[in-house]
Amino acid sequence: SIQKIGLLVGSLRAASYSRKVAAEMIRLAPSGLQLEIVEIGDLPLYNEDLEQHTPEPWLRFREAIRAKDGIIFVTPEYNRSIPGLLKNAIDVGSRPSGKSVWNRKPGAVASVTPGGLGAFGANHHLRQAMVFLNVPMMQQPEAYLSNIAACFNDPQSADRARLDKFLEGFLKAYADWVAETTQGRK
Ligand code: FNR
Repeated sequence: SIQKIGLLVGSLRAASYSRKVAAEMIRLAPSGLQLEIVEIGDLPLYNEDLEQHTPEPWLRFREAIRAKDGIIFVTPEYNRSIPGLLKNAIDVGSRPSGKSVWNRKPGAVASVTPGGLGAFGANHHLRQAMVFLNVPMMQQPEAYLSNIAACFNDPQSADRARLDKFLEGFLKAYADWVAETTQGRK
């Protein structure tokens, strides 16, 4: 059966490399995975007071994640952590208490940077939150996507070919991870 997977992109920039990587994932996904970006740019900043009259975008977002069988985060690193944009979406999905939409959804993360350190800090800060939220995050292969500009400046480049090959393997491993972690659930 086809697994519906939500892609969360941690950047709002029109020319975002993270979004380009997400688009490559959609293009390269194995037949068992149906990937779709779930937008997070319209979510009001989390404020518990708003739960009295829950904002429409929060409701829509929570429903969209609930309908997914898994989630893949594609994120840049901001100051060695995840962008506030993405943390806000995680917080919105985690509430009200006891009704988190993240619980037990198999997850994965690809961290993206034009720099050389793979956005490692963002990757692992994200993992810290998802451990608490009971999301089984795929451990291997890790996806630290460094020097990402080279992959998109020239689609014919060896860097791009290497990226695509890596993403294919990453997504295949993730499909297995989803199957493994949801085995026996109805
Ligand atoms: C950055 N950038 C950055 N890069 C990195 O590798 N580690 C970091 O800690 C940071 N910190 C950081 C903070 C802020 C506020 C900005 C705006 C940027 C650079 C970042 O990787 C670069 O702008 C990417 O292109 C952002 O990702 P998108 O928008 O291309 O997906």
